[in-house]
Amino acid sequence: MSAKNDAMLTRALRSIPWGTQTNAKRVDRDHIPSRPPFIERARGCRMWDLDGREYIDYRAALGPIVLGYCHEEVDTAVRRQMERGTLFSMASPLEVEAAEAILNTLGWADQIRFMKTGADVCACCLRIARSHTQRDHVLVSGYHGYHDWFALGWPNHGVPHLLEQLVHEIAYDDIPAMERVFAEYGPELAAAVVVPLEWHLEPSPAYLQRLRELCNHYGVALVFDEILTGFRLGTTGAAGYFGVTPDLAAFAKGMANGYPLSAYAGKRAWMETLNQMILTTTYAGETLSLAASLKVMEIFRREPVHAHLFQLGAELRSGFEAIFLEHGFPATTIGVDPGAVIDFAPAGDAAEKLHRQLFTRLYERGIFANEQWFITYAHTRADIEQTLEAMAICVRDLV
Ligand SMILES: Cc1ncc(COP(=O)(O)O)c(C=O)c1O
Repeated sequence: MSAKNDAMLTRALRSIPWGTQTNAKRVDRDHIPSRPPFIERARGCRMWDLDGREYIDYRAALGPIVLGYCHEEVDTAVRRQMERGTLFSMASPLEVEAAEAILNTLGWADQIRFMKTGADVCACCLRIARSHTQRDHVLVSGYHGYHDWFALGWPNHGVPHLLEQLVHEIAYDDIPAMERVFAEYGPELAAAVVVPLEWHLEPSPAYLQRLRELCNHYGVALVFDEILTGFRLGTTGAAGYFGVTPDLAAFAKGMANGYPLSAYAGKRAWMETLNQMILTTTYAGETLSLAASLKVMEIFRREPVHAHLFQLGAELRSGFEAIFLEHGFPATTIGVDPGAVIDFAPAGDAAEKLHRQLFTRLYERGIFANEQWFITYAHTRADIEQTLEAMAICVRDLV
């Protein structure tokens, strides 16, 4: 049944630690099938594994795919650029054009620079904040990648323990904890680096507003990690969605429909710090991803992409809710419509087991999801209906 996948997995584990490059795709993650598939191709919202099995995908390559896989217009722009060159000995005009297009789309930021990964740009934001404030401490909330400044408390991961004293972590929406960190370290904080939304929790504008107030009071950079929220919650990202403007923000997934591009953007006063410091990497001006992003921004301006993500997300959610209610299934949906999460209550071992059972069954029926149910512009109402049919069968099997 899975002969080609299984053979590839055996080869992968021989030549690549983990068998893959990305933590969320590795073999021993218990929330994806125990023998995960290798994906050979994808188009729209569907993907096919090495054994030819077809899936409706709600993982969106962990977030970067907003318009759908192999989007014709984006890929044509990339092919055209490929004929002109992928990287040059000096800057390309595409850097300027993409910068202007993204700043126009975001609306609140004055300047922007490019990188390649989410972890890169989170680190860049903190470096700017530290340089600008001449302070070392940072308040942090959420996941921000594998770099040393953040990957603390990961046992035996090669990060110097010395750094731990500089980083003060709080949970999303924990306003009292936030206030305690500011009370103790406020004048020493360079930045508060936070995700503006944890997808498995209810959004909290009050949390972000309080953070904005405290950052203003202590002269701390408010940094939104918009790696997952940027260009998915809307063209203005979480800043627009919540009406709270950061000083700096990190973007990656969602800005180039899967091409490897990330960016840090912000208010001029903070970004101009770059004139006195060095943040640089050879491939940041790579043109294919910039051409992709330029086209993605044009499509965002022209088409109701985000209205579609919200609309179909809401339909998927209400369909799930109706199925859970009908069958007395102990789950509900939580979060925001373009990437809702199924919450199994009460939390604990039984909930985790049910989660695994449900998602494994869905996977066997060709529905590929994991945590967030990411909607793309390529999902149609028919895809949602097919997903709801599969969900109804799986839930019936489990109660
Ligand atoms: C909120 C957030 N920040 C940062 C990162 C790190 O991005 P990357 O994996 O591109 O380095 C991720 C990745 O999942 C993320 O979700």
